[in-house]
Amino acid sequence: MFDVRCPMLDTSLRDHRARGVDTEPFEYRTSNIEYRISNIGHRATIMNTHTAPYDPVFTGETRQRLDRVLERYPTKRAALLPALWMVQETRGWISDAAMTEVAEVLELTPAYVKGVVTFYTMYHQHPVGKHFIQVCTTTPCNLCGAEEVVRALLKHTGCRELGATSPDGKYTVTEVECLGACGFATPIMVGEDFLEGVTAEKVPEVLKRYQ
Ligand code: FES
Repeated sequence: MFDVRCPMLDTSLRDHRARGVDTEPFEYRTSNIEYRISNIGHRATIMNTHTAPYDPVFTGETRQRLDRVLERYPTKRAALLPALWMVQETRGWISDAAMTEVAEVLELTPAYVKGVVTFYTMYHQHPVGKHFIQVCTTTPCNLCGAEEVVRALLKHTGCRELGATSPDGKYTVTEVECLGACGFATPIMVGEDFLEGVTAEKVPEVLKRYQ
């Protein structure tokens, strides 16, 4: 058993309790790992209770896909971003163990791989919900009701805070900067789906498509 801490975690549970923030833990299960999460404000403590040995990502068909990707690049290192993306597609997030595997496959150091993973916000360093929802809350969308969309998403998904995962493990909601659709407020991304013109009223209908 080992613990995985969200890198954003720097506020103690005790501080949050003192401020009256809900710190009740909850649990959910992904495909092969069980997590216990204590929700503390905008952050989450994640305890990985999975005790089985690490299961490599790059085997079988996934390894063959990586080999085909490698053929398109002059060096193994150049394929680092797509290799990490394959890990995230397969596992939903990129653990330290997966970073080590990528480093071995591409003949890099784990520190180099971790530096890249931590630089790009689109790589998840901790588990997220089955449906990862990003909402643009930059000024133009904000003026058109993005905050109401965020509130509706948090309410209807059961996520208690931005960045937290719903107790059923289905959703994680985050806010992001301009998604490049300023004339179609409010744009959101659900996984890789791009949806425009979302309003608070439309949120329940939108979520029905993502169960
Ligand atoms: S400000 Fe929201 S998409 Fe550009």
